Amino acid sequence: MKKKIMQSAQQLFMTGISLITSNGPNGQNVMAAEWTMQISYEPMLIAVFIHEGSSTLKNIRKTKQFGVNVASEKQSTLVSIAGGYSRKEIDKLNIHNSFQILGLKKTGVPLIADCLINAKCKLFTIKKIGDHTMVVGRVVSIRYDETKNPLAYHRNRYFRIGSIIEPIRDKVIVNKKTFNLFHRQSENKFIIKCAGVIVRSKNKMLVTSNPGQNLVSIIPFIQPKKNQDYKRSLENYLQSMKFSITLKEEPRLKRLIMKNGDRVQRINFILFEGKIKNRSKFYFWKLVKTDPVLKSLIK
Ligand SMILES: Cc1cc2nc3c(=O)[nH]c(=O)nc-3n(C[C@H](O)[C@H](O)[C@H](O)COP(=O)(O)O)c2cc1C
Repeated sequence: MKKKIMQSAQQLFMTGISLITSNGPNGQNVMAAEWTMQISYEPMLIAVFIHEGSSTLKNIRKTKQFGVNVASEKQSTLVSIAGGYSRKEIDKLNIHNSFQILGLKKTGVPLIADCLINAKCKLFTIKKIGDHTMVVGRVVSIRYDETKNPLAYHRNRYFRIGSIIEPIRDKVIVNKKTFNLFHRQSENKFIIKCAGVIVRSKNKMLVTSNPGQNLVSIIPFIQPKKNQDYKRSLENYLQSMKFSITLKEEPRLKRLIMKNGDRVQRINFILFEGKIKNRSKFYFWKLVKTDPVLKSLIK
């Protein structure tokens, strides 16, 4: 029973497909490998997990090089050939009207035409892991075609990827000053990640404005540094501003898309509810309904 569940679950992973090319004692070859992925930027490394019986693995062990050709959505038939037969059975690259090799070279590692990415790799490390062998290659040359779309693989079937799914964000239209406050802080990042505190008093919210904020009144917030604890960073900021506010556990995540004219800025707010302990001259209370940002933060 347990094994059956595992087998079914295994089919639900979603991958792309690469055509792994190699050359060896029996000549050039291609196999299909869904278990292929980039695993390092610098050096650029690609790992492929290959079963022991394949001709490809024999070739790679011998020549210490291979090609990774990321299949495009029009190449499902080629993938099916590369994955359906072994070089021991047939010379797949020689099947009429199938694979087109880039360039004319009949020696070395071939690369397949019409793929999304073609990378030539030198063997970096090789290690048996479970019932497959992890072959890691260092990319020595690479080319790509951005006009091609990748082939997706799921439940033993081939798919093309669909339309972009934008994670849900609340739209908030703001004036130029408010927009600039956030946009300047973003340093052209696609999303800025902020931590802020919401302190309510009836239909008002605690806001502050300081010279760094272009005199826009907004909840106390910061852009925490990467890998720094958000709550602690916010607490430190509040302390430095002489705000005596205690933060509750369990923050909310508010995802906004801020608009001003044609300009947009995506903002992820980690929002802590806060309780103010004593008064300070650095903040004031603002009616929530008069401020689009405040309204969107509590929606
Ligand atoms: C869609 C698809 C994905 C595959 N993914 C892998 C894989 O990630 N690793 C692997 O070892 N075999 C994988 N295979 C099986 C090999 O491609 C197959 O065993 C092939 O015949 C090996 O060829 P060779 O003996 O000529 O090297 C896949 C097959 C298909 C159809």
